[in-house]
Amino acid sequence: APGSPALTPPLGWNSWNSFGCNNVNETVIRQAADAMVSSGMRDAGYDYVVVDDCWFDPQRDAQGNLRAHPTKFPSGMRALGDYIHSRGLKFGIYQVPTERTCAQRVGTYPGSTGSSGHEVRDANTFASWGVDYLKYDWCSPEGTREEQIVRFTLMRDALRATGRPIVYSINPNSFHAVTGPTYDWGQVADLWRTTEDLLDIWQNGNTNSYPMGVGNVIDINAPLAAQNGPGHWNDPDMLVVGRPGLTLTESRSHFALWALMAAPLMAGNDIRTMSAEVSAILRNPRLLAVNQDALGAGGRRVRDDGAAEVFAKPLSDGSVAVGLFNRGGGTTAITTTAAQIGLSGGTFTLTDLWTGATSTTGGQISASVPAHGVALYRVSGGIPLENTTSRLRGAGSG
Ligand code: DGJ
Repeated sequence: APGSPALTPPLGWNSWNSFGCNNVNETVIRQAADAMVSSGMRDAGYDYVVVDDCWFDPQRDAQGNLRAHPTKFPSGMRALGDYIHSRGLKFGIYQVPTERTCAQRVGTYPGSTGSSGHEVRDANTFASWGVDYLKYDWCSPEGTREEQIVRFTLMRDALRATGRPIVYSINPNSFHAVTGPTYDWGQVADLWRTTEDLLDIWQNGNTNSYPMGVGNVIDINAPLAAQNGPGHWNDPDMLVVGRPGLTLTESRSHFALWALMAAPLMAGNDIRTMSAEVSAILRNPRLLAVNQDALGAGGRRVRDDGAAEVFAKPLSDGSVAVGLFNRGGGTTAITTTAAQIGLSGGTFTLTDLWTGATSTTGGQISASVPAHGVALYRVSGGIPLENTTSRLRGAGSG
């Protein structure tokens, strides 16, 4: 949204995918914050620690204020925020514009504590707790798009009125039949979910409804690339990297495609116990640089040959990140050209985004890609003749 604190896609961790409703509490959140630091994720750029559904007391206090669940979060949310901040991280929280959160709606959690009619009060409460990020989740099959716009805008304005920069992350889709590309939320929110929930599944048929696999989400989110830019991001859901249903190859491809789509990267695995391989995927500096590029362009699918697909994301220095993506079950040779990904010129440098190794090409970019894998390159244009000349003359700054 205009004035957004999220000029690049937010990076962080969210409790939902590993702890859901029943297992979230202040101990696991503090341990996750500790793991963000000890794993090197914080230093790689991840900063938000987001507490999802089921953190609150099922009853507001006598004045109508939200408060922490007394046994799950006995120290209270301000203390939790202080702890997260003390680790050099930022504090995210969850709430809904509807009457009940999704867990309250399905009956796994008691009460009816949504922000409907309490927007200003709740925004002020969050600001007083030091909240830096709000995930705001429409948890009802009811409500027209127009009603959603009104209610989501109310909280946007309430957050702004606090004077605290709070990233505003919305989900218009929970339980909602309308999913995907029906509205560009960029005036309202900093990021907005584009699909139903992603689980650790490679592909769930051609479903456009819950639960989605990696391929289903890509098919809905990739065509929305034009909506992406600094301060307004398509959100194809939190990461399932490192979750048990994906192989390591699938986790790598999922992460790479989210990086290419300029998606917010919110890890959802249990980062306290993740393997070195999973940690390395999440911290890949070359992929994070592609994701965090200042231009904020969403990667486009420039070629679709069935199982073989090519994605290209233009970067602010004029180079292009390209993914040769094999969604199918056998090893396949995939080829694209510099022209197809929007580059012209004679000679190009290819930097392998997995290994950092470089090579040159006259324009053809190809790789033998294993099942469910992706080959990834940053393609930089030829020899920068003018810069080279001025450097040789001693005229440039290098
Ligand atoms: C639905 C959202 O899509 C999930 O990410 C999670 O926030 C749950 N609601 C919580 O109930």
